[in-house]
Amino acid sequence: MIADIHHARDAALHEIEQAPTLDAIVALQARLTGKRSELALLKTGLGGLESVDERREAGRVLNEAMDAVVEALARRREALESEALDIRLAAERLDLTETIGRPRRGHAHLVTQAWERLEDVFVGMGFQVAEGPEVETDWHNFEALNMGEGHPARGEFDTLFVDHVPPGGRAGSTVLRTHTSPVQIRTMLAGAPPIYIVAPGRVFRRDTPDATHMPVFHQIEGLVVDRGISMAHLAGTIDAFTKAFFGQDFSSRLRPSYFPFTEPSAEFDIQLPNGQWLELGGCGMVHPAVLRAGGIDPEEWSGFAFGFGIDRMAVMRHGVGDIREMFSNDIRFIEQF
Ligand code: DAH
Repeated sequence: MIADIHHARDAALHEIEQAPTLDAIVALQARLTGKRSELALLKTGLGGLESVDERREAGRVLNEAMDAVVEALARRREALESEALDIRLAAERLDLTETIGRPRRGHAHLVTQAWERLEDVFVGMGFQVAEGPEVETDWHNFEALNMGEGHPARGEFDTLFVDHVPPGGRAGSTVLRTHTSPVQIRTMLAGAPPIYIVAPGRVFRRDTPDATHMPVFHQIEGLVVDRGISMAHLAGTIDAFTKAFFGQDFSSRLRPSYFPFTEPSAEFDIQLPNGQWLELGGCGMVHPAVLRAGGIDPEEWSGFAFGFGIDRMAVMRHGVGDIREMFSNDIRFIEQF
């Protein structure tokens, strides 16, 4: 009898020790301590024992066994409960010092970035930033820039006309500016030399979009008017700009060209560190007729001007294959820059 009790107790204690979950403990509690448990059944057998001493002894061992089982159940339950609490605390831990995932912040568009960097570089060289209207008069956009009515160079500008007749004006004399050069005229008329300005802005041409053209694009204009300004100042400024914007290992050159508003005129190219030359824009010495249109005496003052495309610069700097990509507003494209 005693041996049976010990055996039943040891088996019960072993099972309790191995119980994996709180649910298992609940089930074991019913099975090991209930009326139909092995120990309970042994208890009913006590009456069959012969002597009072034997019964008393077996009863005592049985009670001890039952106490041991109950206590083991309580201990195992406690251990499992504290384990479960640890797991929950770890899972629900809030670390307020870290963010979940990569924070998403907006940023300036590729063209805006180039625009602002260009301003920074020229402001660093002592230029001021000027601006003019996007809807312009024929006079500012062409006439004052030495392109009178019927001038063949007008044909190259694919002009968009605005259906607006100014008071005292004529039909067809209001345009969407085809370049930023009219800001030269407005700046000269607004103040006296010395003038050192850049004018970034949006310009418009009747172009079908393709990989290298958009009907709406961006240019930056430069104008310097002072005493004794020469072509050497122009070349030096272009080169200083090239190195400041692209890097010390870039250089520049001027190639003879023609624009109605400059004389002499040039195109300027930049040379990449790999030796390749890229055409960037036009420039030249401001034509005396343009200075006069701006109210400046060409006998006293001289100047240089330049103009180039901002979008093209952004495309070149970042190796974008198709200029249309920049304006498709595809977040997967925009996010890369
Ligand atoms: N306005 C010209 C264009 O859009 C670019 C240009 C050329 C601007 C020569 C200038 C310049 O100031 O001197 O094609």
